[in-house]
Amino acid sequence: MTPPALFTPLTLRGVTLPNRLVVAPMCQYSVTEGVVGDYHLAHLGRFALGGFGTVLVEATAVTRDGRISHGDVGLWDDGQVEGLARVVSFLHSQGTVAGVQLAHAGGKASTHRPWDGEGPVTPDTARPGEDPWPTVSASDVPLGEGWPQPHALGTDELAALVADWVAATRRAERAGFDVVEVHAAHGYLLNQFLSPLTNTRTDAYGGSPAARMRFPLEVVAAVRAAWPADRPLLVRVSAVDGAADGTTLEETVAFARELAALGVDAVDTSGGGIGGGWAHPIGYGYQVPAAAAVKAGSGLPTMAVGLLTEPAQAEAVLATGQADLVALARAAQDDPNWPLHAARELTGSYDAWPVQSGPRLASRDRLLTSIDPWTGPDPVQLAPPRT
Ligand SMILES: Cc1cc2nc3c(=O)[nH]c(=O)nc-3n(C[C@H](O)[C@H](O)[C@H](O)COP(=O)(O)O)c2cc1C
Repeated sequence: MTPPALFTPLTLRGVTLPNRLVVAPMCQYSVTEGVVGDYHLAHLGRFALGGFGTVLVEATAVTRDGRISHGDVGLWDDGQVEGLARVVSFLHSQGTVAGVQLAHAGGKASTHRPWDGEGPVTPDTARPGEDPWPTVSASDVPLGEGWPQPHALGTDELAALVADWVAATRRAERAGFDVVEVHAAHGYLLNQFLSPLTNTRTDAYGGSPAARMRFPLEVVAAVRAAWPADRPLLVRVSAVDGAADGTTLEETVAFARELAALGVDAVDTSGGGIGGGWAHPIGYGYQVPAAAAVKAGSGLPTMAVGLLTEPAQAEAVLATGQADLVALARAAQDDPNWPLHAARELTGSYDAWPVQSGPRLASRDRLLTSIDPWTGPDPVQLAPPRT
């Protein structure tokens, strides 16, 4: 039997992803001063045990001020390498490819953890010891109603930020990561340069689509140069902004062509983050057409993401050639064993399961078949009486 497309490997440069299922980056807002510990080992480790071929660590700040919140993971300091190296080591022990999303929040920095409230932290709403900090962006355009005015970065500051991305990339290498993803989506700093809604600059970094791409491309080129040649580099884009007068799909395809020329290996095609809401209908797999357009227009492999929830649906995305990888966020949180369940559903066997559990589950299935239908006592009666 031909294996499902979801369970075929993909080689990008010197790294072979064992299957096409990727855990999308997911901020947990759960660390102090950017240092990961046991929580992340368990949180990310369970996805490796659950059969995801690749796990991408959440948005990881390249500077302290580039964090979304005080709880973000970071790689702005050498002291942050060790905790991530422990996670990488565990992922590798399970044959899982380890990636990290490098990020700078720009004008969307200094926000609450989502469970503490929406939007930016203010002196009144800050947790003790977690003051808000001034933010930076392409222009001094607030990211939305009620957001502070960011400082518009000068060209010397842009050069310093490129150096920060490079330093974080080198730390990612020291932590042992196989894949780096540059976060240029969801309204964060690089997206703020790309979008006409947040980039009103009149210098070489603003105006035409080509000028708006300039800084993100400088970052990507520098990261590519610093990242080992045998390891893949991904870029996450917002194919379209959250408002109809924002970035267009055509601009994103043009951006992806430039990324291809710089040696980027795949585009993680997401959307939104600037402009308030969502300008396009949302449904199952709503961003798959954008992944297909970016793939067709740039020739780069793409990763589809967004409300991919069913094995047959994810399989069809690959089988129809719309994308090369499938990333899950909420579905992975809901079921960290999603790939194992998908393999069982699509192949009828437990072969993809870890040796510690697959054979035992197969024998349980045989046992259950042999005693089906249920003929024993009412299972409710078997429960010990409550005292
Ligand atoms: C808890 C959570 C945290 C997220 N954090 C990030 C992040 O760090 N970086 C990022 O690019 N996207 C982040 N996202 C977006 C997801 O990666 C993904 O693109 C989005 O949730 C749509 O996929 P889904 O429908 O499978 O959840 C996050 C999503 C969730 C649910």
